[in-house]
Amino acid sequence: MTVSTIIGMQWGDEGKGKIIDILAKDYDYIVRFNGGDNAGHTIKVGNRKFGLHLVPSCIFYPEKFKVIGNGVVINPETLLKEINEVENAGYSLKNLIISEAAHVILQWHKELDGIEDEKGGIGTTKRGIGPSFADKASRNTAIRICDLYNDNLKERIASIAELKIKIISAYGKETKFNDDEILNKLKSFAEKIKPFVRNTSYLLNEAIDKKKKILLEGAQGTLLDIDHGTYPFVTSSNTTTGAACTGSGIPPKKINKVIGITKAYTTRVGSGPFPTELTDDLGEKIRQKGGEFGTTTGRPRRCGWLDLVALKYSAMINGTDELVITKLDVLSELDELKICVAYEIDGKKTEEFPVIEKLKLAKPVYTSFKGWNINEEGWNKIKKNKKMPKELKEYLDFISKETKTKISMISYGPEREETVLL
Ligand code: GDP
Ligand code: IMO
Ligand code: MG
Repeated sequence: MTVSTIIGMQWGDEGKGKIIDILAKDYDYIVRFNGGDNAGHTIKVGNRKFGLHLVPSCIFYPEKFKVIGNGVVINPETLLKEINEVENAGYSLKNLIISEAAHVILQWHKELDGIEDEKGGIGTTKRGIGPSFADKASRNTAIRICDLYNDNLKERIASIAELKIKIISAYGKETKFNDDEILNKLKSFAEKIKPFVRNTSYLLNEAIDKKKKILLEGAQGTLLDIDHGTYPFVTSSNTTTGAACTGSGIPPKKINKVIGITKAYTTRVGSGPFPTELTDDLGEKIRQKGGEFGTTTGRPRRCGWLDLVALKYSAMINGTDELVITKLDVLSELDELKICVAYEIDGKKTEEFPVIEKLKLAKPVYTSFKGWNINEEGWNKIKKNKKMPKELKEYLDFISKETKTKISMISYGPEREETVLL
């Protein structure tokens, strides 16, 4: 039995897509289990490049089963666009499977996300993620994939739309929804995806019984988890290992490997506390060199040093078995590197990650490291003989020792090949 899960260890965009594309080779099913099209997972092999939002990050392997699990909220427009783009580029999606229990993002969710974020200031992706998970929890105003095939869809849309117009007007905004247009679009979407829609919990558990290998693809990152992240500056779903179970129907005891992905530094998009943020020229240098601009929204990502307090916390919450460290190339050529090993809060030193307001007050306590200077040729050499310069080894050993987690892979560029298996 091999069921592994990929988890973002920071605030998202750790390079999960790239690593999933590499690991997918050894798995039969790749399963998205949380979030929605707020995710942007980049995969790149030569001039083939995709930023995927809903379809699992294994489109370069036509034979693999690509499952969108029950924990995902699906925006029909995004999914149809993505299916078209992938197919037009020549990649088969014959093995796409969509959970009948996944929820659907509708026009009012996006509109409400915009309105609420104007007031809340979380800096969401404006994809309607929060409002659609809110409806999921509310139950009466949610529509799932299976509901798209019900005869009462027209009435459901009319009654939900009426309610949403009132809610939007309570925010002081006027809106209209064209129920017929929404209905027709949903029906045409439902027709197009009908062959792919299944009870994915049975599908995946039967696959496990048949000794198939499953890779669970997490979206976002641990610090954006609605329970364990930097609330309220989080996303609206769980992003940690537990969500891999609830979002797929695979029981916890059947997940035998948790692979955490972390950058060699830290980034964050949107608002919220970020103790190791670099707001100076160095932060800008990292942003430019690392191409730190959002895959989904294009927003510049905030950049800072690696935060070990946060990383150790993530390893604890997720039960991380292995770490993959990405973007080591971006730190090349810096004389000095820093890792945050503790916070000072109200004059007291702590190694605990506070998920409450206090994080805003956290001042990072740093340990310094000597930088490395490795060019492309140097990285290729490391890949070949697995021998690292002393400075790089010290940096990685420190992370591994402190998190009590082995590092199974390092990444030094966006390409599939730019990876060292350790
Ligand atoms: P995800 O959401 O975790 O899948 O990450 P994103 O795709 O949103 O962002 C990661 C970005 O970094 C993408 O543009 C990747 O192509 C790129 N990337 C991944 N690994 C590396 C690496 O080791 N070095 C560099 N320079 N870029 C990388
Ligand atoms: P991947 O899967 C980075 C952030 C948003 C915002 C907060 C809430 O590519 O790592 P939401 O639209 O989810 O309600 O926004 O969460 N966010 C992400 N940041 N990577 C992501 O996904 C993200 N998905 C959401 O920027 O701060
Ligand atoms: Mg991303």
